[in-house]
Amino acid sequence: MHIIDLPTPCALIDANKLQNNCDKARTRCQALDVQLRPHVKTHKCVDIALMQHGGSMGPITVSTLAEAAHFADHGFNDILYAVPFPITRMNDALALNRRISSLRLLVDHEDTVRALSDAAVANDQRFTVHLKIDTGYHRAGVSPDAPASLALAQRISSSPGLHFGGIVSHTGHAYDAQTETDRADIAEADRAQMVHFANVLRAQGVPVPCVSVGSTPAFAVTRNLQGADEVRIGNYPFYDAFQAEIGACTYDDIAFSVLVSVIGHYPDRNLMIIDIGSIGMSKDLGRQDMTPILGYGRLATVESNTPLSDIQLVGLSQEHGRIVGINKPIEFTQYPIGSKFRVMPNHSCLTAAAFDKYWLFRGKTVEKALNPCKFWS
Ligand SMILES: Cc1ncc(COP(=O)(O)O)c(C=O)c1O
Repeated sequence: MHIIDLPTPCALIDANKLQNNCDKARTRCQALDVQLRPHVKTHKCVDIALMQHGGSMGPITVSTLAEAAHFADHGFNDILYAVPFPITRMNDALALNRRISSLRLLVDHEDTVRALSDAAVANDQRFTVHLKIDTGYHRAGVSPDAPASLALAQRISSSPGLHFGGIVSHTGHAYDAQTETDRADIAEADRAQMVHFANVLRAQGVPVPCVSVGSTPAFAVTRNLQGADEVRIGNYPFYDAFQAEIGACTYDDIAFSVLVSVIGHYPDRNLMIIDIGSIGMSKDLGRQDMTPILGYGRLATVESNTPLSDIQLVGLSQEHGRIVGINKPIEFTQYPIGSKFRVMPNHSCLTAAAFDKYWLFRGKTVEKALNPCKFWS
C-alpha cells in the first residue's frame, strides 16, 4: 500500500531515515567510547529499541514503570527508570526488580533512599540506585558542588539493601542554547562536572560504576566524552521540527511525521482545517523565538521533508488543526478537501505517544505497523 492511501490521521515512520539515525548514533557512541543507553520513551517500541542496539537487546532508559514492564516482558533486562523514584510505586519496583537482572532507580532525596533501603531489606532484595545530578537544567537532581550531594551518595552506597549504580545527568538545557557553540559548551560543562564529581566520590571511597549523561541536542555536538561511561539519548531515532530548528539534525533526517487530511475550507477567514488537534499533536510550541512560523509543527508534502513555505499550522483544539497562509491567502485549489499532507511535529516524543500504532514505510510503500507500549503510568 502507498502511504497516501492510509486513513488519516496516522503516524508514519520513514524506515530508511529511522535506520540511518539509529546507525549514526550507535557508530558515534563507539567512536566516543561510551555505552549507548537509549531513552525509549520517544517511541516506546521494542522493534525500534532493538534497532538502536544494532538488532540485539541492550541497556535502555525509560520514563515510566509501564514502559519498564513492557520492555521487561520483551526480554530487556537492564533498564534505568530515569525519573526520581516515586515511593508510592514501591510494590511495582519490587516486582520488576525480581523479574530482571538490572533494574536501576534514580534518586535525589534522602527520604527516597531510606524508603528504598527499608523496602529492599524487608523483602530480601537489593535495589541498584543512581544519584541524579543537576548540571544546569534545573529540573530534578542535586548540585555536584554541594557537600550534601557527596553525603547523599555516601548514604546510598552504605545503605543496606542498596547498591550505588552511579551518577546521572540530563542536558535538557541544551534545547535552550542560542548557538551550536553554546550547545557544545553545555555538553562539555556537563561532562566536566560529572567527571569531577565522580572523582570526588571515588576519592572519598565511594565507587562510581557509571557516569551517565545525555540529551539529543548535546550529543549532536559533543566532541569528547572522556570519563563518561554511557550516553542516554532519546529523541534522535525520530528527530522533529524542534531539533531541526536548533540544528541538532536537518529536516531531511526527520523520520516521524503525521499524515493528515484537509476537512474544511473557510476562504473568508483564510483558514483551512485538518483532522488532527492537540490530542494528537500535543501543544508543544518548540523554539518560537527562533522560528515564529514553526506553529504547532512544520507541514510537508507526502513526498518530501522540505517544509511548505505557503501554509502553517497556527492553532490546535482537541481534534481540529487550524491552517492559515503565510503572508498571503491559502491557495485552496492546491489543498482540496480530502487532500493529504504531513506534519513534522515540534516534539515527536509527545506526538508519537498519542498513537497506538506507527506505519513503517520504505520509499513510499507501507511495510508494517509497529505497536508501541500504550498507557504511561
Ligand atoms: C533523564 C533523561 N535522560 C535522557 C533523556 C533523553 O533526552 P533527549 O530526548 O533529548 O535525547 C531525557 C529526555 O527527556 C531525560 O528526561
